[in-house]
Amino acid sequence: MLGSFASLAGALGLFMAASVNAQEPCGGTVYNGTGTFTVKNYGTEYTVLTMFGANNNPGSEDYLLYCGDIPAPQGQAILDMGVSSNVKKFKVPVTSVLVSGTFTSSYVELAGGQKNIRVLENPQNIVSPCLQEEFKNTSIVPLNSAIFNQYLTVDVGFRENKDPGQIKDVWVPMSIEVAPLLRAQYINAVSLFFNSGSQALITYNTIIGTYNQLKIDMSGIPNENKMRIGWVKYDFGNKTWKLRNTEFTRGIITDAGGIPFPLVGDGVTSEPDISPTDFKILMTNADIIIDQTEFPADGKGNYTSLFGRWRALAGFTGTDFIPRVLDLHKVYSLDNTVNQIGISDYQYRMPSRPDLLLRDVIAVQYPEYNKGYRTRFLNGNFQYGGAPDFTLGPANCTTTPMQYNSGDITTSNPNPLFTGLPTPPPPVVGGGIYGIGGPTQGDGTSGSGKSKTTSVVIAVVCVAAVLGAAFAFAFYKWSRRAKEDRFIELEEEMNNEIPLS
Ligand SMILES: *[C@@H]1O[C@H](CO)[C@@H](O)[C@H](O)[C@H]1NC(C)=O
Ligand SMILES: *[C@@H]1O[C@H](CO)[C@@H](O)[C@H](O)[C@H]1NC(C)=O
Ligand SMILES: *[C@@H]1O[C@H](CO)[C@@H](O)[C@H](O)[C@H]1NC(C)=O
Ligand SMILES: *[C@@H]1O[C@H](CO)[C@@H](O)[C@H](O)[C@H]1NC(C)=O
Ligand SMILES: *[C@@H]1O[C@H](CO)[C@@H](O)[C@H](O)[C@H]1NC(C)=O
Repeated sequence: MLGSFASLAGALGLFMAASVNAQEPCGGTVYNGTGTFTVKNYGTEYTVLTMFGANNNPGSEDYLLYCGDIPAPQGQAILDMGVSSNVKKFKVPVTSVLVSGTFTSSYVELAGGQKNIRVLENPQNIVSPCLQEEFKNTSIVPLNSAIFNQYLTVDVGFRENKDPGQIKDVWVPMSIEVAPLLRAQYINAVSLFFNSGSQALITYNTIIGTYNQLKIDMSGIPNENKMRIGWVKYDFGNKTWKLRNTEFTRGIITDAGGIPFPLVGDGVTSEPDISPTDFKILMTNADIIIDQTEFPADGKGNYTSLFGRWRALAGFTGTDFIPRVLDLHKVYSLDNTVNQIGISDYQYRMPSRPDLLLRDVIAVQYPEYNKGYRTRFLNGNFQYGGAPDFTLGPANCTTTPMQYNSGDITTSNPNPLFTGLPTPPPPVVGGGIYGIGGPTQGDGTSGSGKSKTTSVVIAVVCVAAVLGAAFAFAFYKWSRRAKEDRFIELEEEMNNEIPLS
């Protein structure tokens, strides 16, 4: 792994070499992704990009990019490149872009193509101030699949679901549960269409370098001092709590120096149900909770706050037993940055900015590590009943123009002395996979993990009955979002905390 300085320096070197040498490949210089895409350059005129579906998203598709004032390649020239004669062809740089699957615009921003977005799926979900403004002033129009001719107005469409029938579509697979750094690779693939591959590679390397530097710092925390982090959501349909246990969630938690649940056991699925008893064990042992519950849009019911509702679902309405994580206000929702209708930018930015979530997960464990840092996604106000820290509307574009997803890319100074907090969290209690292993007392049927230990120490206090979910509620809801923007100046990358937006 490279430290952020090393990788930034490397990227700068590459950028300068590329600037000196005008003979860049079409699209710019990028590396192959690892299982996400490959790039083959044919001189400076043609580049073949092949996109692969990450993870459970099989298949691939080729795109032929051509540069300069040459006509689109035909016939044998195409076959010589080893692609089909009806390969999709794009003259780059493209100038007018459609985005289907709002999150893909986060790649377009980092590729320097924010100003080229003309059609956007679900613009109401956008958080990026300048995209909001452009939608407001109709520079951006909503994607409408009923309007077939809409594609005539653009050069390319970046979309989440493969649609080989639409010849302007480029597939950017949405596999949300993959390893944290995997999806950021698509920044490089998308940048080829803007002929900005070389600059985007610097951005990409900075993001990855920062992530890896933070991860190295957190690796100095002794195991016994690590915090236990539960990433959960309530499933209203099945009336059950679920554990988020994917490669993505486990990866981020582990890289942030935390210990993800389940604490013991293997063979646990990516989103197992958690029984009420096991949920209490999890809550008792957790130092941090990340909550991803999508509350229905019909109000808080009889509760005074959304968090009151959350507590009821969690079974902690009484005062006889309050888990440490509740007492210390360590329950976070994922909506600390929202647009004016309350849509969080979490899912939108995650594919391209895992470094931000890593910073957040570190900050909620160790506020002193990066003093003054304000979390982007993790919303501590959830538990206090306050509003998210950042609400962004179209007017914010004027005050802080054209910086959103590309505006807060920072490096991280190595901090080899960091070893977490001096005292370990309290010992793990309770049985089952959310405790020390062994059979869970009570209704424990959670997950499918096999316990590795047999001793049982039940110190779990079972509290208020877990309420069923026969309520109507809450106006909150996050889903997806969007934003924008221009390329960061190199000097801005150098260690500045650039304010959000
Ligand atoms: C990417 O991998 C392909 C083989 O799959 C290779 O031909 C090509 O040169 C590689 N491209 C780059 C930019 O390294
Ligand atoms: C719409 O807003 C964008 C972003 O501020 C601006 O660049 C553009 O010029 C505006 N267009 C019109 C037609 O006002
Ligand atoms: C209940 O859970 C199953 C498995 O996780 C899921 O497939 C199903 O959609 C859920 N039902 C509802 C109504 O949400
Ligand atoms: C609110 O409380 C009243 C009285 O206990 C009850 O009849 C009603 O169903 C509750 N509403 C919700 C949404 O829980
Ligand atoms: C966005 O604009 C509002 C209203 O002008 C302002 O209060 C807020 O601080 C701005 N947010 C950011 C993050 O700049």
